[in-house]
Amino acid sequence: MAASFPLRDCQAWKDAGLPLSTTSNEACKLFDATLAQYVTWSNDKTLGGIEGCLAQLKAADPSFAMGHAISTGLKLIGTGSSVRLDHELDLAVKTMVEVSKAQSLTPREQLHVSAVETFAKGNFPKACDMWEQILQDHPTDLLALKFSHDAYFYLGYQEQMRDSVARVYPFWTKDIPLSSYVKGMYSFGLMETNFYDRAEKLAKEALAITPTDAWSVHTIAHIHEMRAEVQDGLEFMQHSEANWKDSDMLACHNYWHWALYLIEKGEYEAALTLYDAHILPSVQASGAMLDVVDNCSMLCRLQMEGVSVGQRWHNLLPVTQKHTRDHTLLFNDAHLLMASLGAGDSQTTQELLSTLQEASESPGENCQHLLARDVGLPLCQAMVEADAGNADRALQLLLPIRYRIVEIGGSNAQRDVFHQLLIHAALNCASSTHRNVARTLLMERDALKPNSPLTERLIRRAAAAHLM
Ligand SMILES: [Fe+2]
Repeated sequence: MAASFPLRDCQAWKDAGLPLSTTSNEACKLFDATLAQYVTWSNDKTLGGIEGCLAQLKAADPSFAMGHAISTGLKLIGTGSSVRLDHELDLAVKTMVEVSKAQSLTPREQLHVSAVETFAKGNFPKACDMWEQILQDHPTDLLALKFSHDAYFYLGYQEQMRDSVARVYPFWTKDIPLSSYVKGMYSFGLMETNFYDRAEKLAKEALAITPTDAWSVHTIAHIHEMRAEVQDGLEFMQHSEANWKDSDMLACHNYWHWALYLIEKGEYEAALTLYDAHILPSVQASGAMLDVVDNCSMLCRLQMEGVSVGQRWHNLLPVTQKHTRDHTLLFNDAHLLMASLGAGDSQTTQELLSTLQEASESPGENCQHLLARDVGLPLCQAMVEADAGNADRALQLLLPIRYRIVEIGGSNAQRDVFHQLLIHAALNCASSTHRNVARTLLMERDALKPNSPLTERLIRRAAAAHLM
């Protein structure tokens, strides 16, 4: 196996203070290879990709608890499968727990198993507490750090996403494998909490060490996005493309960021060209949820700008439709709904809404289902109303929850699609009182992100309607 660092065997993991309960050196190395690919957002063909490594890992030691924890945890953190519907995934969680009970694990390993089991139940905050408990004693446990990072992202816990990495950052000396990627993770949390200068400095440090770090590229893309530095963003993506285009798990999302700059500039044909060349083919190849939401978000934003996207919703629908009943994340649900609405598939729309309603009424600790009633369902309902031309109703549903939409997770840049939806709803309202909301929304948007061409276009539209 080839890797950017020597893959760690049993003794090496022990020396790192992170012993693994297996006697198989091969299993230890495959665990390391899987972790490295997860953290670097790329399936390394020379390692057999993540799937290949996990298959070999299970063969090397079928009772390796941390092997089960990383394998099942990765499937869950991908949010593309629901434990309620995917029998194989449900079985994997049960097997992980059984395997862990049949042997004497270290407290750290036991916590890993419990955290993944808790995440499977949808209790993301409790799972994060367990990963944090691990990190308190083992600050260089990269699996705990990355799983919690992703879970905080899904929860919209922006400060925790930043501080979780801040707490362990001093322990990540440069001799530790993948330490530059921890800079990138810290940088992302800083960026999402508006510390743009510090975020940029750290992301650049990470890229100076590892230019192919697609996540640090991504943070810089976000910084340009939040500052409305459209030209700088475009140039940065163009110049760095060769470094990140092979990070198969993140490339689609980086192209999505690139296309956002083009939408800002009003260069819609160029945005559609990027969509057709990279964004749609990525989701068709991977089916990954990040690619799914990027596709939905891109087409939705273009449509709000008045661009005809042709048959593209219909091309996307087969990929999104299979997740209609998953309800793993409300963030995913809202994006899946864009596709069924865009394609005019009312049956799928109805199925998504009714099963989400059922999920919201089901007992249990699933944080997404608990949040559905207050935030997820009103958001989805507002999208349906806006699509049906009932802008006043959409506005009435969205206004009371607008400051809670962060709770469905995702980045500030991703959730901007919902803020745009709210502004468009206000502009389209029949009631003059409702239409006047557009002015207030646009003034605050312009104040938060000055010099945005997209905002300026919306302001011109509002002025033409005598709202400004
Ligand atoms: Fe992003």
